[in-house]
Amino acid sequence: MTVTTRVALATSAPGLDEDPDMPALLEALRARGLDAVAAAWDDQDFDWSGCAAVVIRSTWDYALRRPEFLAWADAVQAVSWLDNPAGVVRWNTDKVYLRDLAERGVPVVATRFIAPGEEAVLPDGGEFVVKPSVSAGAYGTARYTEAQRDLAAGHVAALHDAGATVMVQPYLSRIDEGERGLVFLGGAFSHAIRKDPLLTEPGVVDNDRVPHPNLRPHRPSAAELALARAALAAVPERQEELLYARVDIAYADDGSPVVMELELVEPNLFMDHDAEGPARFADLVHRRTAARAGVRT
Ligand SMILES: Nc1ncnc2c1ncn2[C@@H]1O[C@H](COP(=O)(O)OP(=O)(O)O)[C@@H](O)[C@H]1O
Ligand SMILES: [Mg+2]
Repeated sequence: MTVTTRVALATSAPGLDEDPDMPALLEALRARGLDAVAAAWDDQDFDWSGCAAVVIRSTWDYALRRPEFLAWADAVQAVSWLDNPAGVVRWNTDKVYLRDLAERGVPVVATRFIAPGEEAVLPDGGEFVVKPSVSAGAYGTARYTEAQRDLAAGHVAALHDAGATVMVQPYLSRIDEGERGLVFLGGAFSHAIRKDPLLTEPGVVDNDRVPHPNLRPHRPSAAELALARAALAAVPERQEELLYARVDIAYADDGSPVVMELELVEPNLFMDHDAEGPARFADLVHRRTAARAGVRT
C-alpha cells in the first residue's frame, strides 16, 4: 500500500472559488506526488490531523472572526504542521505589529493607534486614512480630506463601537505611482507586483473594492528589497520558518519607501505574475514536508 502525503491549502467559502493562486498551487503540489487539497478553514468536517502540512492561503474572512481563527490555528498546529506558524498568525493578524517593526527600526507608514476609549486625535494638516487594525481587503478603510474631519470622527467612533483599534495615517499620495508587493518564499525573494491605489475617492468606505487594481509585474529597487528584508528580519516569531511572506511597500512624501503591510497570513501571492512561482512554492512545501518526516528527497 502506498501512503500519500496530504497537504491542505486552507481557504474560505469565497476563497474556494475565487482564490486566483489556488489552481496553480494545487497542480504544482500534485505534480510532486503530494495529495494536495483545498479546504475552508471553518469546514467542521475536514480532518486537519490527516495532513502533513496545512498551508494558510485564502482565509479572507478571518478579520471579523479573529478569535475563532486564532483558536483554529492553534488547534491545527497541535495536530499538524501549520504554515505560517500559529504564533506568527496571532502577531500578524493585527496591524499593531507595525509598532513592533517601527521599534526595531523598520520604516513603516507613520501610524497613530487609537484603542476604544482613547481620545480620537485626528491630524491637523493634509489628507489622512482611517482603518481598523484588524482588517483585510481594505475593509472599513477610508481616506479623508481636512474638510472631512467630522466625517472621519464618525468613522472612528463607529469602529470603536465595534470594538476595533483604529489606525490613523497620513494619506500617502505617492501611492499613485503604485503600491509594491514583494513576495518571498522560504525567506528568498521570489517576485513582485505593483498595483494602483484603492482609496481613490475621499470620504468613502467601500467594502467591495477591487483589492488589487491594475496588477502588473514589478522589478523591485535595491532600497525596496532592503526594506522588505529588514521587515522580515524584524518578525519576532519563528522568522526562519516562514514559508511565504509578502511585504507591501509605498513611498512616503519624502520619497523614502515605507512598509504599508507585512502579510504573513493569507496574502495573495500573485502566482500568475511569475511563471516559476508555483513550482518554487511546491518544491519548498515538498522539501520541508519530507525533511520533517525524515525522508530524503
Ligand atoms: N496611509 C495610506 N495612504 C495611502 N493609501 C492607503 C493608506 N492606507 C491604506 N491605503 C490603501 O488602502 C489599501 C488597504 O490598506 P492596507 O493597509 O493595505 O490594509 P488591507 O490590505 O489589510 O486591507 C492599500 O492597499 C492602499 O491602497
Ligand atoms: Mg494591503
